[in-house]
Amino acid sequence: MKAIEIVKGVYWVGAIDWNIRDYHGYTLPGTTYNAYLIVGDKIALIDSAYTGFDQQIIERVRSVVDPKKIDYLIANHVEKDHSGTLPALTKMLPGVPIYCTANGKTGFSKYYDAKDWNFHIVKSGDTLSLGKGKTLAFLEAPLLHWPDSMFTYLAEEKILFPNDAFGQHIASSQRFDDQLGKEESLKHAQKFFANLIIPLAPRVLKKLEEVGSIKIEIKMIAPSHGVIWRSYVGDIVGSYVNWSNGVARDKVTIVYDTMHGSTDAMAKAFAEGIMDEGVEVKVCILKDGKSEGTHRSNIVPDMLDSKAILVGSPTLQNQMYPTVADFLSYLKGLDPGKLTHKKLGFAFGSHGGHGGTIKLITADLKAAGIEVINDGFEVYYKPDMTEIERCTEMGREIARRVKSL
Ligand code: FEO
Repeated sequence: MKAIEIVKGVYWVGAIDWNIRDYHGYTLPGTTYNAYLIVGDKIALIDSAYTGFDQQIIERVRSVVDPKKIDYLIANHVEKDHSGTLPALTKMLPGVPIYCTANGKTGFSKYYDAKDWNFHIVKSGDTLSLGKGKTLAFLEAPLLHWPDSMFTYLAEEKILFPNDAFGQHIASSQRFDDQLGKEESLKHAQKFFANLIIPLAPRVLKKLEEVGSIKIEIKMIAPSHGVIWRSYVGDIVGSYVNWSNGVARDKVTIVYDTMHGSTDAMAKAFAEGIMDEGVEVKVCILKDGKSEGTHRSNIVPDMLDSKAILVGSPTLQNQMYPTVADFLSYLKGLDPGKLTHKKLGFAFGSHGGHGGTIKLITADLKAAGIEVINDGFEVYYKPDMTEIERCTEMGREIARRVKSL
């Protein structure tokens, strides 16, 4: 196993997790846990990897230096995908200083038997000189992703190590954005943002403003998942600004499940109306556990990219379908209402009894910060031709609203 030198004296020594397919409800085609070795007169290791990946990290370090020569561990984030190797590293390096935030120390001490760990608490603006023109500067970034998070900056090389921020969940042999390709890199970054960063959008904008105000130049962004940004730094930073602001295309995402085809017929009629107005539409049926369904984590990137979202469900025992409840629970957690520009939406569905699901969906859409534009549309049994035409016209109406934004 080898390290990859990303600039002179700075090495990627991370782990590739080819097989992971689910990470707290997010489907992913594998991922990487990036760690970086900085070699000056002193040697620092930034971040580590998920539990079980100890040897990948240690062996990649060994391809550059004896791992026992590491002088400092820099721990940007407590979450186990970046700290799971710390017990092995601290065992190999007893007494090694661990640079982290105060919240980091609290978190590590809860997750691990860390009573003998030598924590060194840092605050924004603190620095650590490694010699040979290698100075690390620290910037607290609370809640990007957890309260403990911080960014590390290698001043002379102008490399930002922002941990989760700007990351992508992808396992590949490519280490850089220009190797994976701009479109592919941004696509995976957008999915990562949609599934993890939306609720943090105001903090992202504030942190970018803060970084801009202290006028630090960034030539490279080395996140802790996915490829390193060296050719498309402006594109990924610009995309984070746009995504945080809720900048979207003239596009509508329709999400639903169906019992006997009635809600499905309504969804497709809305889509026809939207297309009549020349607006892009993505139709996503849920159906958890069945191959034809779309997983929630593959829907939210389309939702982020859309100016409106329609959510439909049959009524089942006076409730919405479990798959739709699952999706809306996820959506409420993501809270797209935190984006600067709000998304429009409404509910729809069918029933063969008392109905009422659209009220529940409407309440959840509002709780997720969606600007609900009507009371929704619910049909009894199966939509007839008049009701189908009404769905189509409602599709045209929302498409016109989208175009006017
Ligand atoms: Fe990649 Fe918040 O962990």
